[in-house]
Amino acid sequence: MYPVYQKRMRIISRNLIGYLLISAALFITASCSTPPQENTMKNEPQNSTICCDDSIMITAHRGGSGLAPENTLAAFKSGIEQDADALEMDIHMTSDGHLVVVHDPSVARTTGKTVVVETSTLAEIKKLDAAAKYFGKAFGSQQIPTLEEVLDLNDGKLWLQIEIKMRSDGSRYPDIESRLLQILEAYEILDRVIIISFDFPTLKTIKVLNPAVLTGALAGKAYLSSVGAKGPDEVVRQIKESGADYVGISHTYLNNSLFGSFREAGLGVGVWTVNTIEDMRKYIELGVDFITTDRPDLLRHCL
Ligand code: G3P
Ligand code: CA
Repeated sequence: MYPVYQKRMRIISRNLIGYLLISAALFITASCSTPPQENTMKNEPQNSTICCDDSIMITAHRGGSGLAPENTLAAFKSGIEQDADALEMDIHMTSDGHLVVVHDPSVARTTGKTVVVETSTLAEIKKLDAAAKYFGKAFGSQQIPTLEEVLDLNDGKLWLQIEIKMRSDGSRYPDIESRLLQILEAYEILDRVIIISFDFPTLKTIKVLNPAVLTGALAGKAYLSSVGAKGPDEVVRQIKESGADYVGISHTYLNNSLFGSFREAGLGVGVWTVNTIEDMRKYIELGVDFITTDRPDLLRHCL
């Protein structure tokens, strides 16, 4: 062969090998877990989604607060449209005894108005705009919903993870547990609910009122840096003692060993708040029971 021809052939075969390697890599990536790009509402560019099987409950955190104003009907509608399995929400109680779905005891962060839920009536809460601080105006104004409004919207479709929050001073709303159970019973949705809380006495009260209702003990930074410092056995002991069926852990604190301890104790395990595909992959592989995310559009049951 002529040297120039040989050189050209070398270049062609090098390009061919490169092309084959790239094609193989693309094929492997696509067949592992990444279906075609989805065109969904989003607050940042995303190139793909990740698949998990039906054993994982895809839970839309505050309805999916990366896609719509948190804890609003717009967010819960979006969570349903995104095919999540469960809607996560936070509840507080108004001065006239209504359960409202909002994260903070004082709602300035989301509404721009310094209003405290426990000292306000439902009528006063209803005047606020829960989307006032949300980026963009795509959703217009949104009221803080009552729990019943969210249940009406959901219409029994998705599971619910309902988090009982505390008052501004960290104390419990009197009888919030029985009020919550009353409403869920009236809506006949007690068998599709996990009641979650950072406050373990709240969870114990739920189990006393109705032992059949599933509960989840939340473990976050504060808890894990205090009790967690005593070691995993103490964490597991306290969570078991709360009567919880699940532990919902701030995901950065979960490792293989702690996961093993939870499993050994017979606990279901969920992680929050997991918002990247990379982290989602990690917890899918670990075998958690639920992944709570602000971006339910990134996680799909496509296996
Ligand atoms: O699902 C648990 C998670 O919601 C707890 O944290 O602050 O978002 O209520 P937070
Ligand atoms: Ca919550």
